[in-house]
Amino acid sequence: MDTHRIALIPGDGIGNEVTPAACAVLDAIGRRHGVRFEYDTYDWSCARYLTEGAMMPADGLERIRHHDAIFLGAVGDPAVADHVSLWGLLIPIRRGFRQYVNLRPIRLFPGVQGPLKSGTVDLVVVRENVEGEYSEIGGRMNRGFPEEMAVQEAVFTRTGVTRVVDYAFTLARTRRGHVTSATKSNGIVHTLPFWDELVAECAPAYPDVTWDQEHIDALCAKLVLDPGRFDVIVASNLFGDILSDLAAAVAGSIGIAPAANLNPEREFPSMFEPVHGSAPDIAGLGAANPVGAIWTAAIMLNHLGYVEAAADVEDAIATIFAKTSLRTRDLGGTAMTDEFVKAFLDVLG
Ligand code: NAD
Ligand code: IPM
Ligand code: MN
Repeated sequence: MDTHRIALIPGDGIGNEVTPAACAVLDAIGRRHGVRFEYDTYDWSCARYLTEGAMMPADGLERIRHHDAIFLGAVGDPAVADHVSLWGLLIPIRRGFRQYVNLRPIRLFPGVQGPLKSGTVDLVVVRENVEGEYSEIGGRMNRGFPEEMAVQEAVFTRTGVTRVVDYAFTLARTRRGHVTSATKSNGIVHTLPFWDELVAECAPAYPDVTWDQEHIDALCAKLVLDPGRFDVIVASNLFGDILSDLAAAVAGSIGIAPAANLNPEREFPSMFEPVHGSAPDIAGLGAANPVGAIWTAAIMLNHLGYVEAAADVEDAIATIFAKTSLRTRDLGGTAMTDEFVKAFLDVLG
């Protein structure tokens, strides 16, 4: 039987509720497909920060470098400033392991009541994941004076943009063959005109893929009014972050949305985590929607080469939404996380 070692970082809040849900589904699907997962669990979190002064140990990346994959629940706690918790754990992993593609598919499943009156959603946001607006360059000055200011430089490199755009075009070939590039080159005069030029340079290598570009403001409106027109959306770090929550909400809830932080060259492990955060407002209630984490586990299965197992998990999500009225509160129901997990285990036998 194949065995895979997974570094598990449940994190904070509902991360501790959706991670066991995803593992229960992984174990069940593993039994069906002859694969075993061994989990090494790390307590890296805001709770650790509050007792030990650091989100993870200084050699944290070394400890998880040789795992087959990393699965993370969510990080964030009202008692710790978000820039401290995220730059102390999540972002160093994404950058240290060159996970430059953040892949965020989303679908409107039949049976899910989203905000749309009609129409479909079946798209993937390909988010640039290691540069762009999330830069370490800048500073705060003149604290406490009227001249107080904050400056942050966005960083767009030829290598960084080209590789994620190539990934998006290659992905579009396996889907409906269309890429939309998110831009704002009418307002942001240095970085996004450069982004547009690089997209236009990449596109001719994919004559079988059509493409267009939309300003991010208009793109948001079109995503709400006519999401069915989008197939693959390629976006910078910040635009992709915003678009992925928006697209998930249009498909019903951010609680169902999965994400994969990929190092496509496989020099380092990739990290799988749902799009949502630690949801402190519902943490501890057992009411979190586990579908985002479970779908994320399916993407991890696919990454590890278990394409059929991944499809079985995604089909199970569709079956539960189509054939049962089980809905967590984010989707207007009263179902609890564990009832949902039981439904998965029933469907997956
Ligand atoms: P959030 O995604 O945690 O929550 C936004 C809203 O969606 C909340 O009302 C929450 O209850 C609801 N929600 C989210 N996931 C849900 C689920 N699975 N089931 C049901 N409802 C769900 O976003 P936020 O409130 O902006 O952030 C809370 C904390 O999480 C912050 O500290 C933030 O920095 C952090 N965060 C972490 C990650 C990550 O670790 N990957 C991602 C986003 C936010
Ligand atoms: C996400 C999150 C993170 C991001 C935050 C928590 C730093 O919102 O994964 O979408 O912006 O990348
Ligand atoms: Mn986000």
